[in-house]
Order: sequence, then structure tokens, then C-alpha cells
Amino acid sequence: MDCIRPEIRALSAYHVPSAEGLIKLDAMENPYSLTPELQETLVTSFRSVALNRYPDPNASLIKEEIQRVFSLHQDASILLGNGSDEIIQMIALAVAKPNGVLLGVDPSFVMFRMIATFVGMNYVGVPLNADFSLDKEAILSAIEEHQPEVIFLAYPNNPTGNCFDEETLLAVIKASDKLVVIDEAYFPFTDHSMLSRLMQFPNLVVMRTLSKLGLAGVRLGFLAGPKHIVDEINKVRLPYNISVLDQQATLVLLKHYDVFKAQTSQIRQERTRLYNEIAQLKQVQLFHSEANFLLLKINNAQDVFNRILERGILIKNLTNAHPSLTDCLRVTVGSFEENTLFLNALKSSLN
Ligand SMILES: Cc1ncc(COP(=O)(O)O)c(C=O)c1O
Repeated sequence: MDCIRPEIRALSAYHVPSAEGLIKLDAMENPYSLTPELQETLVTSFRSVALNRYPDPNASLIKEEIQRVFSLHQDASILLGNGSDEIIQMIALAVAKPNGVLLGVDPSFVMFRMIATFVGMNYVGVPLNADFSLDKEAILSAIEEHQPEVIFLAYPNNPTGNCFDEETLLAVIKASDKLVVIDEAYFPFTDHSMLSRLMQFPNLVVMRTLSKLGLAGVRLGFLAGPKHIVDEINKVRLPYNISVLDQQATLVLLKHYDVFKAQTSQIRQERTRLYNEIAQLKQVQLFHSEANFLLLKINNAQDVFNRILERGILIKNLTNAHPSLTDCLRVTVGSFEENTLFLNALKSSLN
């Protein structure tokens, strides 16, 4: 296998554990399905989809809908991806050059580091402070030292759940003369956003996905930003990256954005309930979250994780993901019933 680069051989493929027969609280999915009316509307609309034809490569109708639903700046250009994962990859492909640096923070979304490796870039992760806030001095000096081609910051951050300080983000954008990507995958669960800053800086782009909103199966992410950047990244996009079915589903479902807003506001309420209940448990250290998950630190997290799993609930064990996540577990906010079952399982797993 000499033809495979050593850094690829050293990777493990992104592991998705089987959740068969389990309550799935490991992947930040929305627990609610479509309403029966919306399912009907979708199925009816699929009748007119031409599966024998390639998809619309520009998906202009979807872009118009995104512009409207998210009130994007009228001059912002939009690029669509097969999930925002694909957009991260397109950006990295477009900026990769020998010894080029992709800068992120640690701990953060693992795909930033993985994709840097895929495209032959050097990943530099600036350690977050102990409370997971952004270390302004450290990131500014890393920018100075490494001159990164691109900086990725998740806002709110995964897996820590917090939003970084906005002034620090602005300082980062100003300090870099290259691309800064603010990844707002968890936008439905926070009032913070950098979308209103779009077009104020020549190097700022904002990425969102419909996944956490309730459409993880549809695979639709978008990047919004100045035309001079988006047009260039679009050149590395494979022509038909969004299938006709995904395009159709997105078009129909975005027209019913209010349904997803109602669901995500329910999830926000459940997050508060879950937080308040867990905060009562003196064995658990709990972190503030602006996302649809909570990060918990517990002694012997591995054992607690196993006991919760034995009770039929799959959460995410982060204990070996990064030194600052030792003994950390991440639980997605589910439905009322799922959260209640999780709370019971957690309480009985503590000793
Ligand atoms: C911060 C962040 N960005 C992007 C993604 C990818 O989302 P998708 O590819 O489903 O759009 C995730 C998924 O968990 C994430 O946590």
C-alpha cells in the first residue's frame, strides 16, 4: 500500500457507531420527525422529480430560498455542499498548498483536522483556555507565526458547546489576511451569529448546515460570503454535488422553516430542563451550552458511559478525544421522553 500517503494510513476512518435498538443521543440530531402533513407534501412533490436527469448544477432556486429564509446580505454569494463537511473539504482543496496551514482550535470539530490531512495541509490547533473560551493572545500569535491559509472556528463550538467571544473573533478576522470561516452548524440553538458581519470583511465567510435544524439526512450545507471568495471555491465543487432528491427536499422544506423553528425552540427548552436537572448532581461538572448538546465531566466517564449504554442509550464518550476532554461525555438534547430516560440512566450510573 505504498501508494497511500503515510499520513492517510495513520488515520482512522470517521467512526459512526451502530445505534441499532438504542436511543440515539450521540450525533446532535433533531429527535423530531416531519409532521404528517409535511411528509405528504414532500412525497407529492417527489412525483415530479426527474431522476433520469442530472441535478441543477447551480441550484439557484435553493440559493434564493436560503437568501430569504436566513435574511442574508443581498450581495452575499452562496455555495451549496453535500453537508457542510463537503464545504470544509472544498475550502481546504481550494487553499491547499505545500506547507500551507489550516488553523483551528483544540478541542473542536474533528473534521477540520482530518480534512487538512486529506488535502496535504498542516493542521495547527490553538489550545482553548481551561473553560474552553478562545485564548486571544494564543490565537493571534499563532496567526502571526503560521500565516494560515484558512482559519476554521465553530460558533458555537463542538464538542464544548460554547460560543467564543465576539470581539476576539473580530480580532482574528482582522489579524488574518487569508480566509476565516465561521462554522455556524449549531445556529438554531443560539442567538449569536456572525451572519450580520458578512460583507463587512473581505476574508469572512459563514458556513451553515440544515443538519442540526432537523434535516441531517438531507445533506445540505451552505457557505455565504463575498463573491470573490465563493466563486473561487465553487471551482473545486464537483458539478452535481447535491442530488435531485436533496434539492427537491430542501426547496419544499425550507418553505416550511417555521416547523423546524418550532422544533428547535422545543429543543432549546429541553436543553434548559436537562441542564437544570444535571446541575443538581454534585458528581457532574456541567458546561454552558449554546448548542443542542451538553458536555459533562464525570469521574470514571468510561464506566458511566458503559452503564448508560447498558440501559439502551448511546451518547458520545470523549474521554480519549483530547487531553482537555478527559472524563467528558457529550449528550445530544433529545425529546422529552428521551431526555427523561437519559437523566434516569445517568443518575443510576453514578456511584
Ligand atoms: C461544528 C460542525 N460543523 C460541521 C458539521 C457537519 O455537519 P454536516 O456535514 O452534517 O452539515 C458538524 C457535525 O457534527 C459540526 O459539529
